[in-house]
Amino acid sequence: MEALLGLNGISHWFGPIQVLFDVNLELHPGEVHALIGENGAGKSTMMKIMSGYLQPTEGTLQLDGNPIRFGSLEDAEAAGIIMIHQEFNLALQLTVEENIFLGREKRRGLFLDQKAMQAESRALLERLNCPIDPRRKISDISVPNRQMVEIAKALGRDARVLIMDEPTAVLTNRETDTLLEQIDRLRKAGTAILYTSHKLNEVSRIADRVTVLRDGHKVLEAPSRELSEHRMAEAMVGRSLSTLFPAKAEAKSETVLEVRGLTVPGHVEDASFILHRGEVLGFAGLVGSGRTELMEGVVGLRNASGEVRVNGVSIKPGSALAAREAGLAYLTEDRKDKGLLLGKNLRENLTLLALDRFTRIAIDRRAEEQALSRAIEEFDIRAGDREMLAGNLSGGNQQKLLLAKTMLAEPDIVIIDEPTRGIDIGTKQQIYGFISRLAAEGKSVIVISSELPEVIGLATRVIVMARGRIAGELEGERITEDAILRLAMELAEPKAEVE
Ligand SMILES: Nc1ncnc2c1ncn2[C@@H]1O[C@H](COP(=O)(O)OP(=O)(O)OP(=O)(O)O)[C@@H](O)[C@H]1O
Ligand SMILES: [Mg+2]
Repeated sequence: MEALLGLNGISHWFGPIQVLFDVNLELHPGEVHALIGENGAGKSTMMKIMSGYLQPTEGTLQLDGNPIRFGSLEDAEAAGIIMIHQEFNLALQLTVEENIFLGREKRRGLFLDQKAMQAESRALLERLNCPIDPRRKISDISVPNRQMVEIAKALGRDARVLIMDEPTAVLTNRETDTLLEQIDRLRKAGTAILYTSHKLNEVSRIADRVTVLRDGHKVLEAPSRELSEHRMAEAMVGRSLSTLFPAKAEAKSETVLEVRGLTVPGHVEDASFILHRGEVLGFAGLVGSGRTELMEGVVGLRNASGEVRVNGVSIKPGSALAAREAGLAYLTEDRKDKGLLLGKNLRENLTLLALDRFTRIAIDRRAEEQALSRAIEEFDIRAGDREMLAGNLSGGNQQKLLLAKTMLAEPDIVIIDEPTRGIDIGTKQQIYGFISRLAAEGKSVIVISSELPEVIGLATRVIVMARGRIAGELEGERITEDAILRLAMELAEPKAEVE
């Protein structure tokens, strides 16, 4: 069968750095093609080239067998090629419905047809089991819901080719299932789909063909039924992989953090828990169960009532500074809006939280550069060039920079929200090792994660939240996928608003 969209001999340079090397790829109607590879392998770059977002330095594209050049995103969209970006492309100040219809607003006469747009937005979101109100502003909805809006926006455009860059990175299992069902529907309707994900079980489930990129080279292409997940992972990293999770360390009995009756209005009610020295404490729950909001309350990023004690000393609620001075650090799940300054370079991002350490009279540039070298080494940050902007790092490498930045402030207690979102399997292994080393050194770590294997593999104790409350706690052998899910869903009836 003729390819709908093809890439022939594509090479790409960013300035002096080559990131793609003579890559070929074909997308066929009714086929899901997965593109996998480590962070920085060149997946997003390739997808951007296919969707007119970037012009390749060398090589050509073909549409229905004919050579084609997309001068812009709009050119590609006009040809029916739609891309869902890894980093969202939504306008934060506009509503859900305005985003879904951006650039193709419905009109009746001279006026916008609000009613029709609202109804269609609702219908699209319903297909995704995402019952948010289309009139809400993007800035007011959660990260997973933003992803759903991004997907709804693409679904609404009747794509011939749908390119999805890590659409499930911020979604939970349930939302992912819904998305995969929609992808399956589109495949049956004849859409050609290109899909990236670091979750190889998804790739096995959904893909017909798999292409593996390593350092900008295509190293493998095969029908997915011929590839085990293990084989995919090894092709990605180019070496054999041992176990993913390190051994769990024994926590001490000393309490370092005590949270009593914490209420975050509208999100969390009366939550109490403790954290021990040297412990990795997991927080599980469905999206919208209040995990992030609870931690934001603990570290003073949200108004909260109740008590937070660090090493026995009460800290002022609602004060991020007080929390930081007490040795608490929080690594956000929202690296784009709250985590990194994408328009600044790596050094400026890295030292932001620990600036006082680098400032005597003026900022000590040399010490900062040294800190950056150490961070690049310790966290294996793959940046083509150390002067580059944080926004130009690949998604996974942005996450590593955020981790390095958080750790530079030398916190005693680290709260990490979704530590490996968008992170490849080799790097995941490094981050897990890093978390367990922190605990072994006597720091205490809270890990919020929607990936159950991650919570189960890392934590010695797991707290499960449901609908803003702590639903239960599991320890040791009792930490199983089944037990966590039962607690997480126990109270979860269908809600009007899933946040
Ligand atoms: N605008 C840019 N300027 C300079 N370098 C860039 C730019 N965009 C990407 N790069 C570099 O190109 C390489 C490939 O990045 P790309 O984003 O395609 O990786 P990826 O495979 O999508 O990774 P991830 O899994 O982390 O999303 C990386 O080394 C990245 O730092
Ligand atoms: Mg990417």
